[in-house]
Amino acid sequence: MANPIQALVFDAYGTLFDVHSVITACESRFPGRGTELSRLWRSKQLEYTWLRSLMGRHADFAQVTAEGLRFACRTLGLSCPPETEAVLLAAYQALDCFPEVKDALEALAPRPLVILSNGSPAMLAAVVRHQGLEPRFAAVLSVEAAGIFKPHPSVYALAPQRLGLPPEAIGFVSANGWDVAGAAAFGFTTFWVNRADAPEEVLPACPRHAIRSLAEIPGLLG
Ligand code: 2OP
Repeated sequence: MANPIQALVFDAYGTLFDVHSVITACESRFPGRGTELSRLWRSKQLEYTWLRSLMGRHADFAQVTAEGLRFACRTLGLSCPPETEAVLLAAYQALDCFPEVKDALEALAPRPLVILSNGSPAMLAAVVRHQGLEPRFAAVLSVEAAGIFKPHPSVYALAPQRLGLPPEAIGFVSANGWDVAGAAAFGFTTFWVNRADAPEEVLPACPRHAIRSLAEIPGLLG
């Protein structure tokens, strides 16, 4: 029987790109505080996406990322003038890839590979270009086409629309457990990249596959 998964869709931030590579820039501006700033910044960034979606007050991920940073600095008592904020936000456009990403993407071609992310088109284009990954992806899809953030189903619907495939024929790969839950509820075949051995989310849908690294996916697809 042919493998039912005909294309793979990847989350970007936290899955392909390590959001905590901004720790270096945070540490250089706020010595000794880089790790806690990065962690709070990421958690507030995501919280603001969910809050804005519930409020019906969408703004793009670049704005939400800046607002999350401002709140994180305020919470930690760090003064972040506009010049520092610009440096830290620029670091988001030059994130590191996780170590296995490039080899895994190569092994997964020639299936169509797509990014589907909260990121704005400009942010995504910048980080994909920075890592030289443009040739790897058939498309880079942003939630901006839906005007709301993950895990709203209209965001996940962008991938089957673009690929011309039913959701179950699409493998959706994310390291964000809540994103995997949203994608599984939508109907994708999901791969949860659990690098940190985190507990599974208690949400209405579960991942089909739990893996430690993208390098495991080619073997699972056969
Ligand atoms: C992304 O959509 C959830 O931040 C994650 O790229």
